[in-house]
Amino acid sequence: MFSLEFLPKPVLQKPHLFSKLVDHSLVPNASSPKHGSIRGIRTLRISIQSVGSVDSKTEISNVPVLSCSEVLEELKTYREKIKGKQQYLAMYSSVFGGITTDPAAMVIPMDDHMVHRGHGVFDTAAIMDGYLYELDQHLDRFLRSASSSKIDPPFDREIIRKLLIQTVSASKCRKGSLRYWLSAGPGDFQLSPSGCDKSSLYAIVIQDILPFNSSGVKVVTSSIPIKPPQFATTKSVNYLPNVLSKMEAEEAGAFVGIWLDSDGFVAEGPNMNVAFVSKDKELIMPYFDKILSGCTAKRVLTLAECLVKEGKLKGIRVKNVTVDEGKKSDEMMLIGSGVLVRPVVQWDDQVIGDGKEGPVTQSLLNLIVEDMKSGPPPVRIPVPY
Ligand SMILES: Cc1ncc(COP(=O)(O)O)c(C=O)c1O
Repeated sequence: MFSLEFLPKPVLQKPHLFSKLVDHSLVPNASSPKHGSIRGIRTLRISIQSVGSVDSKTEISNVPVLSCSEVLEELKTYREKIKGKQQYLAMYSSVFGGITTDPAAMVIPMDDHMVHRGHGVFDTAAIMDGYLYELDQHLDRFLRSASSSKIDPPFDREIIRKLLIQTVSASKCRKGSLRYWLSAGPGDFQLSPSGCDKSSLYAIVIQDILPFNSSGVKVVTSSIPIKPPQFATTKSVNYLPNVLSKMEAEEAGAFVGIWLDSDGFVAEGPNMNVAFVSKDKELIMPYFDKILSGCTAKRVLTLAECLVKEGKLKGIRVKNVTVDEGKKSDEMMLIGSGVLVRPVVQWDDQVIGDGKEGPVTQSLLNLIVEDMKSGPPPVRIPVPY
């Protein structure tokens, strides 16, 4: 990062912040490759891409010390600048005990055990036409994940549920998604959560502007190790393997990587389950005991029964699925809240079926979308706006 071509430039766009500049000219450990001496001043180049008022080539000697209100002002500027594809409409935090609709204030404490130690769990629910889809199913999994992570929630289930619904109500969002976290809470930076004052609940409402994509995708077998069952069945915030798997797939020109379990059977994708339509027209899905129990996949298993009645499927089975079986199937699909039901047309070098989006996959996607729009009360919770 250090470069001699660097010359001091006007680094702050806001003149008022000049009064806050501090001279850190004596940077310790100056022999580090990150440090250099220019015009007698030790400088450090730091990369803060697109942060409020700090240029990407800022000298450490020019880093301002900000008051709380100045930080808020900068956070507002930052949010304005990166206003892009996703809009955050409301956030609840048990730390400040309320809901904010100002994206600049949608922050969590740095010493929350979830930040530094990954000691937190999360879940989601889609918001469709003013209803929360499968909120209770996701909430059940959320609390199971909290229990297996030894996080004692700050409120009981009913209160958490009400807080989530109220947050969506305050957001006025009618189409989007709700994400929520339970964490061991703020306290300190130790490994043990014993210094954490109280567990925390956070929730955010994100406006969804992207229509669901039903085009077929390519997948690859993931070389990133799958999480062991104890962690794969818990929806914790530790998604490093999932992120690396997704990145590996993207680098290979694929949509996602497919994990195999320790016995070599098909497991899941990094944020979705996998299912197949066999040659003899059976919908097959891997067991959920070593992977995340997907709410969407479970709903698909129920909804698929009508395809059996219509004769489009011969049966539905949850079983161990071999790679060979999967690759030779008529149809393959990814299933999850994020993708709904997405056809897979190629796995590694193997074209699936005739290489086109399959009819059963398309029917299952239609059934899920229909269920989100007009399913029965247990899967559609109305939001009182
Ligand atoms: C690892 C993993 N598997 C499966 C799923 C699908 O679960 P759901 O349908 O509840 O979204 C997810 C969802 O995020 C996931 O992260």
